[in-house]
Amino acid sequence: MTTPRPTRRSWAEPWKIKMVEPIRMLTREQRERALKEAGYNTFLLRSEDVYIDLLTDSGTNAMSDFQWAGMMLGDEAYAGSRNFYNLEAAIRKYYGYRHVVPTHQGRGAEHILSRLKVKQGDSVPGNMYFTTTRLHQELAGGVFVDVIIPEGHIPENEHPFKGNMNIEALEDLIKKVGRDRIPYICLTAPVNMAGGQPVSMENARAVRQIADKYELIVIFDATRAVENAYFIQQREAGYESKSIAEILKEFCSLTDGCTMSAKKDSLVNIGGWLAMNDEAFFEEARNMVVIYEGLHTYGGLAGRDMEAMARGIAESVQDDSIRARVKQVEYFGHKLIDWGIPVVHPIGGHAVFLDAKKFYPQIKQDQFPAQTLAADLYADSGVRSMERGIVSAGRNKATGDHYYPKLELVRLTIPRRVYTQAHMDVTAESVAELYDHREKARGLKMIYEPKYLRFFQARFERL
Ligand code: F0G
Repeated sequence: MTTPRPTRRSWAEPWKIKMVEPIRMLTREQRERALKEAGYNTFLLRSEDVYIDLLTDSGTNAMSDFQWAGMMLGDEAYAGSRNFYNLEAAIRKYYGYRHVVPTHQGRGAEHILSRLKVKQGDSVPGNMYFTTTRLHQELAGGVFVDVIIPEGHIPENEHPFKGNMNIEALEDLIKKVGRDRIPYICLTAPVNMAGGQPVSMENARAVRQIADKYELIVIFDATRAVENAYFIQQREAGYESKSIAEILKEFCSLTDGCTMSAKKDSLVNIGGWLAMNDEAFFEEARNMVVIYEGLHTYGGLAGRDMEAMARGIAESVQDDSIRARVKQVEYFGHKLIDWGIPVVHPIGGHAVFLDAKKFYPQIKQDQFPAQTLAADLYADSGVRSMERGIVSAGRNKATGDHYYPKLELVRLTIPRRVYTQAHMDVTAESVAELYDHREKARGLKMIYEPKYLRFFQARFERL
């Protein structure tokens, strides 16, 4: 059979590979053994036992030659490193915030933010939770309140901005608990746990209006804000001919500050920051970072890490770079859609999410369908993915019961600039193989549960 010649619309990555890292696939028997030893939790597998690692796009980026060159220019002074000033300048230029406090990664920034802003009994509205973000809010005495639009919880819904905040729900909450009990509005874009779903500029503007009306601040989780800017450029009227850099800056200008896990968009392996415009907030954050992360000009990072981040930020906002990134995820996702495999629609910016409830309908949610599917995928092909369902959701502190999230997903997360189209094909074929034999699957039993963020270290047995 010959393949028809496509019209000239293909895209390709705006880079070529100059260094490679060998990977290998274990035998089926070895994979089964590794899985058992890991308690059927992909977080507990050894990386060298993994063939294609789609656990996360966090810190798994391939850096450019320009970034590696910058690593040699690390100014490792305890105070006032030149690399900090380069980082600060890059954040000011591309994100637009006035003040920058570096942290070792995103949760370091979330910790400082939550300690400074959240008081006992406060409510923090957000467009769906993220695991570490919510935990820091809770540890500071707050309660996270989900105000994502209802479409965000429905895997097959095709809303182009499924991560949007439900403005009415947001305002209702403010009226109900009172503005004094809301430390800040937590806006994320795109929404990781909803499937990497974006937020429109229009929605961010509406959030700004509510914030102004009640004199509240908006803190942006900017972890994948560049990917969000790409979706705005592609899907929102009036943004077709704006650059990614312009869209990113406009979006950030609607918020008062951000937490950032630079391990994603910024194309590095470690790093993050807390940024804000307000002077008094900055003074407090700059003081607190010294306790938990390090001096305010390094925040737990080496000078070289900050240099790589500064350079990574500039690379990340190049239109051709972000296009290749999102298009690779889309290529992989559409392959699965074409084969009738249940995934979250539309395909998000950083990952393809399998709908485990539809994949394994015979497995009840408290027998962990997504955890099971992630384990089965590794057993089939050595591909590592991650559960984003009931295990990730954790327990309700008050009742002790599991949270039962509507979304029970397996995330296949694509690291930036790391894998080729052929790796995507191999992975898609393995998922299809499991789908063909889906009726054979049985669930899991949890035999060990840690107290915090249980998905990282919980252990399971096959039923
Ligand atoms: N916010 C979002 C939206 C995230 O996706 C993450 C991390 C964080 C905050 C925390 O940042 O890891 O640097 O401390 N997400 C990773 C993931 C872990 O795999 O999705 P961090």
